[in-house]
Amino acid sequence: MELGRRARSVTSLEYSHKFCVDLRLKIGAQNVVQGDAAILPFASGAFTAAIAVLVLHHLRSVEAQDRAFAEIYRVLEPGGVFVALEVDDGWLTRVAHFRSTLVALAPKSAEERVRAAGFSKIELTSRSGGFRLRAERS
Ligand SMILES: C[S@@+](CC[C@H](N)C(=O)[O-])C[C@H]1O[C@@H](n2cnc3c(N)ncnc32)[C@H](O)[C@@H]1O
Repeated sequence: MELGRRARSVTSLEYSHKFCVDLRLKIGAQNVVQGDAAILPFASGAFTAAIAVLVLHHLRSVEAQDRAFAEIYRVLEPGGVFVALEVDDGWLTRVAHFRSTLVALAPKSAEERVRAAGFSKIELTSRSGGFRLRAERS
C-alpha cells in the first residue's frame, strides 16, 4: 500500500513504567515511550496526529493539562489533528476514580483551553457520559 512520502508509524506515550512494559510484552506494541504528557519527549512537528483516550483527567492539575495541550500543539505538524476522548464529571466517575487521579474537564472549558493553546477548527461532540474533542494545529 502506498503510504505517502514518509513511513507512518504509531508512537505510544505512557507515564507508568509498568504499563510501558505491559504494552511491549503483552500487546507487542512498538515505539512505546515512557513520559509525561505535559513534557513531551518529542521533537516539534514530529506527528501528523495525537490521540488522548481517557488520559487528560489523569493529569494532576489544570495547569498540567494546559501544558499538555501546548505540548501536543508543539509536536504536531501544521494541519495535524488532535483528538481527545474524556469522561464527564459525576458521581460514577468519582467512584471509579477512588484512589486514582481525577481532574475532570468540563467540555466547553476544554474547548476554550484547546483554543487558547493555538488549535483551530475545534469540534466538540458530547454523548452520555463523556465527550470528544477534535482540533487542528494551525
Ligand atoms: C484510563 S487509562 C487510559 C489508557 C488508554 N488510553 C486506554 O484507553 O486504554 C489512563 C492512562 O493515562 C496514563 N497517564 C497518567 N498520567 C499521565 C501523564 N502525565 N502522561 C501520560 N500518561 C499519563 C496512565 O498511566 C494510564 O495508562
